[in-house]
Amino acid sequence: MAVREILVAPDKRLKTVCEPIAEVDAEVRRLMDDLIETMHAAPGIGLAAPQIGVLKRVLVIDVHGEDEAPQPIAMANPEVAWASDEMATREEGCLSLPEHYAEVTRPARVRVAYVDRQGARRELEAEGLKAACVQHEIDHLDGILFIDRITPLKRNIILRKLGKAQRLKAAG
Ligand code: NI
Repeated sequence: MAVREILVAPDKRLKTVCEPIAEVDAEVRRLMDDLIETMHAAPGIGLAAPQIGVLKRVLVIDVHGEDEAPQPIAMANPEVAWASDEMATREEGCLSLPEHYAEVTRPARVRVAYVDRQGARRELEAEGLKAACVQHEIDHLDGILFIDRITPLKRNIILRKLGKAQRLKAAG
């Protein structure tokens, strides 16, 4: 397992539609382990493969209470199989958009079909924070960032600040 570097927007790789996994083999399991370790080190509650520069449909989430043990879930080829008509709005952040947060509206409850670390087909039912988190991570696999789901005005403010930070980093 290894902690990998997390890409920061704007980066072309974060805007890419990722490739499905043909089979959960040793390489995919290693990718899942690296994602979990990198997510926990950040720390974050979710991380998708494109965020470490791997353009494959793999993500991890870990939404547990402060007094609970870690409960990481790794998914290959996750898909929203069902979403509630009821919507929910909550503040989101992203390890690829450090220090930026915005309110995002998504379906309040979802059922997600995926392939697990052992290659078995499974489903996850989620609501609340977990529902928002898994939808946010699936978006990453389609090259969608949470700022793509807010108003252009708010998005441009965040992108301008990120661009400025990158130029300063490049200069300094
Ligand atoms: Ni994110």
